[in-house]
Amino acid sequence: LSVKKELEKILTTAPSHEFEHTKKDLDGFRKLFHRFLQEKGPSVDWGKIQRPPEDSIQPYEKIKARGLPENVSSVLNKLVVVKLNGGLGTSMGCKGPKSLIGVRNENTFLDLTVQQIEHLNKTYNTDVPLVLMNSFNTDEDTKKILQKYNHCRVKIYTFNQSRYPRINKESLLPVAKDVSYSGENTEAWYPPGHGDIYASFYNSGLLDTFIGEGKEYIFVSNIDNLGATVDLYILNHLMNPPNGKRCEFVMEVTNKTRADVKGGTLTQYEGKLRLVEIAQVPKAHVDEFKSVSKFKIFNTNNLWISLAAVKRLQEQNAIDMEIIVNPKTLDGGLNVIQLETAVGAAIKSFENSLGINVPRSRFLPVKTTSDLLLVMSNLYSLNAGSLTMSEKREFPTVPLVKLGSSFTKVQDYLRRFESIPDMLELDHLTVSGDVTFGKNVSLKGTVIIIANHGDRIDIPPGAVLENKIVSGNLRI
Ligand code: UTP
Repeated sequence: LSVKKELEKILTTAPSHEFEHTKKDLDGFRKLFHRFLQEKGPSVDWGKIQRPPEDSIQPYEKIKARGLPENVSSVLNKLVVVKLNGGLGTSMGCKGPKSLIGVRNENTFLDLTVQQIEHLNKTYNTDVPLVLMNSFNTDEDTKKILQKYNHCRVKIYTFNQSRYPRINKESLLPVAKDVSYSGENTEAWYPPGHGDIYASFYNSGLLDTFIGEGKEYIFVSNIDNLGATVDLYILNHLMNPPNGKRCEFVMEVTNKTRADVKGGTLTQYEGKLRLVEIAQVPKAHVDEFKSVSKFKIFNTNNLWISLAAVKRLQEQNAIDMEIIVNPKTLDGGLNVIQLETAVGAAIKSFENSLGINVPRSRFLPVKTTSDLLLVMSNLYSLNAGSLTMSEKREFPTVPLVKLGSSFTKVQDYLRRFESIPDMLELDHLTVSGDVTFGKNVSLKGTVIIIANHGDRIDIPPGAVLENKIVSGNLRI
């Protein structure tokens, strides 16, 4: 009850032009918070989790073997591309939206996305639109940049996800005292995860607009996944299913490696496909969950969802996503929680859902500067906004790269490489401490460079390091 009162108090501080959407946000939050208070115990019963039946996760090769329709444009014209753009670049030490970080030849994530879709539209003479789901953290900066694409052949739409109040962990009351989100309220609000897309897309009116225009599917993905390009074979499978039965929801999954053990996996649960995240797994079963042999695949968050189904389920209030409780400590030391949901968790609410096991190349996320080093290097070539592994690489896998904390921020990372080393023959790179790389360095095999506290290592221009450990002090 006291939360309700606090929320009402906050709402009274909304200026009239913000009243309606603040009310919607706070109502949405209240429902989520209510569910959170009611829920007791784990959200899945481990005993009920089963391996998904054979045909519920199909290999991509099988989908591809069916080929393309004669008229590719007609299926493309039913598609809307949605990128999740609510996140900031904080984990790579950047201010502002993550999508505006430069990733390759000065191109940002957003530039590459626009180039990919423009290429599609030009090739097939279509008008596939791009929709960005922004958050209050990213909306203003993103919109400023969008003018840059005015002359591109891609119509770009945006909508905002909700803004929810963070909750004091002890009192369970909102931290915010009013609706503002600057000054002392800067840390009092948060975007409640990408599961928010269903309600926000619906509320924005865009869902109805697109249905009115004859669109049938959205392709949703993380904007920082450079592998998430529009796949025509999957789209064809959706539009022309072999058994005549359309899928309402397709989740692209890919084979787990030991590095991916934290990703959510698809399981069979009460007769339906269900995404299970590590946070939902009882402690006693975490190792089993992580094992690569029992749960072989994980969610790439590339999702294909029927617009009509989103509308139907949203109107029936039938989209059910587990609540993720995310604890945080604010700058001032206050412990808070934020309640979030994940877009893929809704799979269980849709009819006739399917997993497609796609090649690893469709999962190329850039979460750290180590990932950035890989995508900036000659391991990849850039073609109409898409990155593909260079044919000159002899192994199909990418090297394992671990850059130390002196490289965490993009600015520091860029300063430490005069040019990006040749990495075509690299298997493993570990760098730690105060290290810089001169121009045209080549890294091959396993290379470990460690500058201990107080030391500095400058790798000279043109150096070729092959299966080498470098440590100590090396200044040039
Ligand atoms: P995350 O930052 O959640 O990455 O953002 P993650 O933890 O690796 O991925 P998940 O959550 O397990 O899939 C993933 C994408 O979702 C967007 C981010 O901008 C990014 O593109 N996002 C995240 C939103 O749009 N809104 C949110 O509230 C959270």
